[in-house]
Amino acid sequence: MENQTISANSNNLRVGIIGAGAIGQAFAKQLVKAGISVTLSNSRGPESLAGIVGQLGAKARAGTVREAAEADIVFISVNWVHLPAALAGLPSWNGRIVIDATNPVLLPGYRLAELDGRNSSQVVSDLLPGARLVKAFNTLLAAVLASDPAQAGGKRLVFMSGDDAAAKDTVGQLIDRLGFARIDLGGLDIGGKLQQFPGGPLPAVNLVKFG
Ligand SMILES: NC(=O)c1ccc[n+]([C@@H]2O[C@H](COP(=O)([O-])OP(=O)(O)OC[C@H]3O[C@@H](n4cnc5c(N)ncnc54)[C@H](OP(=O)(O)O)[C@@H]3O)[C@@H](O)[C@H]2O)c1
Repeated sequence: MENQTISANSNNLRVGIIGAGAIGQAFAKQLVKAGISVTLSNSRGPESLAGIVGQLGAKARAGTVREAAEADIVFISVNWVHLPAALAGLPSWNGRIVIDATNPVLLPGYRLAELDGRNSSQVVSDLLPGARLVKAFNTLLAAVLASDPAQAGGKRLVFMSGDDAAAKDTVGQLIDRLGFARIDLGGLDIGGKLQQFPGGPLPAVNLVKFG
């Protein structure tokens, strides 16, 4: 299905999450709060997520990775080493929008993965042929992302970058709908490096925008 024109403000918007751990659940919580339907997936299958979707409420359901990947907007939140396995064998992306919330970090020691001089999201893009990728939500700690974006009369900031302007517009609308503020850092070559963990200056920076 072609989703080039999907509006993030649609009542029928469905978001899929691949990787229902700390950051995936934090994002799901904000989606549900905004009334957006979400399908969460992990490596162990939908049954293992019954308790989590039960806590999230009626807008959340558990699905397979394939079902999550078929949503209008797909949020990827698996650990770096698991990305190839998580994204293997999925149907054509057909221009669907992917939010890359991953970081190229290797444990133990929080070491930077080998990227051959590229931005990590450019590496992730190679695993998602035909998708339109926007890097966002990778810089806030999960507990911060899960907490109320409305803070002291302002809005918590989310950084984003990407090479497809229309996809970035849609993700920007989604960020607005969730109640966050946003800063567009430009393309992946520059913005992605600013957002990069480890190495960039923005990870764990928790800012609130006023006005
Ligand atoms: N935690 C944070 O504060 C934070 C903040 C920003 C960005 N991030 C980034 O977000 C990503 C996830 O971090 P996290 O802390 O949320 O990790 P996490 O709590 O360990 O969760 C990882 C999730 O990925 C799933 N997964 C692993 N292999 C998979 C596969 N082959 N197919 C489908 N799902 C698979 C796991 O499912 P199973 O449990 O079933 O294996 C789990 O639901 C990382 O790249 C991290 O750098 C994390």
